[in-house]
Amino acid sequence: MSLIMKFSVLQILGLLILDGLLHCQGLARHTFVVKDVPYTRLCSTKNILTVNGQFPGPTLHVNKGDTIVVDVLNKGNYNITIHWHGVKQPRYPWSDGPEYITQCPIQPGQKFSQKIIFSSEEGTLWWHAHSDWTRATVYGAIIIHPKKGTSYPFPKPHAEVPIILGEWWKKDIMELYNEFRESGGDPNVSDAYTINGQPGDLYPCSKSETFKLMVDYGKTYLLRIINAALQDILFFAIAKHNITVVGTDASYTKPLKTDYIAISPGQTIDVLLETNQALGDYYMAAKVYSSANGVLYDNTTTTAIVHYNQNYNASSRPQLPNLPSYNDTNASANFTGSLRSLADDNHPVHVPLNISTQLMFTVSVNTFPCSTNSCQGPNGSRLAASVNNISFELPSIDILQAYYNHISGVYGDQFPSFPPFIFNFTAEDLPLALETPKRGTEVKVLEYNSTVELVLQGTNLAAGTDHPIHIHGYSFYVVGWGFGNFDKDKDPLGYNLVDPPLQNTIAVPKNGWATIRFKADNPGVWFMHCHLERHLSWGMDMTFIVKNGSNPEAQLLPPPSDLPPC
Ligand code: C2O
Ligand code: CU
Repeated sequence: MSLIMKFSVLQILGLLILDGLLHCQGLARHTFVVKDVPYTRLCSTKNILTVNGQFPGPTLHVNKGDTIVVDVLNKGNYNITIHWHGVKQPRYPWSDGPEYITQCPIQPGQKFSQKIIFSSEEGTLWWHAHSDWTRATVYGAIIIHPKKGTSYPFPKPHAEVPIILGEWWKKDIMELYNEFRESGGDPNVSDAYTINGQPGDLYPCSKSETFKLMVDYGKTYLLRIINAALQDILFFAIAKHNITVVGTDASYTKPLKTDYIAISPGQTIDVLLETNQALGDYYMAAKVYSSANGVLYDNTTTTAIVHYNQNYNASSRPQLPNLPSYNDTNASANFTGSLRSLADDNHPVHVPLNISTQLMFTVSVNTFPCSTNSCQGPNGSRLAASVNNISFELPSIDILQAYYNHISGVYGDQFPSFPPFIFNFTAEDLPLALETPKRGTEVKVLEYNSTVELVLQGTNLAAGTDHPIHIHGYSFYVVGWGFGNFDKDKDPLGYNLVDPPLQNTIAVPKNGWATIRFKADNPGVWFMHCHLERHLSWGMDMTFIVKNGSNPEAQLLPPPSDLPPC
């Protein structure tokens, strides 16, 4: 027997033992090494932060209800945290990830073993860094398969493919971020959008690497679409092909046939693609939906190719799909507003009907005065953002630790349940005096099991635009939305309490509102913020603390021993 063979027998034995140990604990384990690696896009090379050297990062596969452990090792030069977007982590916010909310960042050279507890989620979610703007390149898909012995509420697709939409800057992301902080203005727009990390045929030096989806004629493919872009809601479509939406944010929807989708940063949309067109090559493409007047946007288009196998006519140029125009608010809002929960016996909806806690939050872009009017915001001001007129400031130790250990002075519990000023939120011209918010680190405390209705009201302060609002630790039902000011007498009459979609991110339409409902049954500290990264950095964030219930099963689990120190 050769040495090599003996070695491999030993290795296999080793693996079997290791495997046995892990199964004793019942937990699958993954290692995420966060490190800088050079990548070349758009004819130039730079170091980017990656997980395991991969961009996009590795895909995590789990079954519904699994718990897994990811050992995160920071071998980069910056603080980092990793968030499992849309995973509810029942009673265990400790590994949720947002820096200074549920943990202090993992410093260079340090490590944190994160337990990820799946519960009712099924479909597609994703993970991303949650520290400054490092998520620009640190992200990947999470695929939650049905439990063993159960299946999708649609025929089993021939194949499943993550389609991750992203954004690329030629500049170093930390530099971009620091410049943005200093200038007080809008950040530089990206140089490209990407599909699975590649800009596609319409950009320089990119064509040879364009992502190709090889398909057979007459089959059905499940595309798990994720918007990982930093700054933009995107339109996406495939030339000549209708697609059928079957899920969003790891919850199934009624099948919705469409020729395009609008997808917010943070959101995932699962679609079925039937390969029923003439053998050929077709572009799938994504481009921006940008609704703020006068704000610059990246007007480029990213593409990937749907390539039919047995297509011998490869010389013809693929066709581009039609996408709505960049400022088509109706196209975005109408698509998002067409999603419906599947709502059948296997997928019941539990929309709270009796509301115990009524909330209304305004979400605004604001300005702070800037000394000698030297900032890059409107009239030399510094751009800001707020929820209920409070521009959120991160504390210096995480809120979860302060809450759990009763450390005072880290946050306040006076987050207002209603807007402090009532005005015509969406009026064309608003007095400048309304533009300046307060600064603060306030939380809203919710009773365990309270039934919450939250009206999110966009405003036209500084710049009216869409805000994809995301809540950690929860999915919520989107029971209504509309343009203009929310009317508390009329609008609730139109709520959908039968089959509203269950989401973790909802785009509040430009100068409009959206109403969500959830039951506060997950105790812990949970961040809520706009998923446009610039708005998050400007302070369009707040935090919920959901109190423990009386029963031990309704209480926070104890912290892990290796929580990163500040
Ligand atoms: Cu994608 Cu705070 O989250
Ligand atoms: Cu926003």
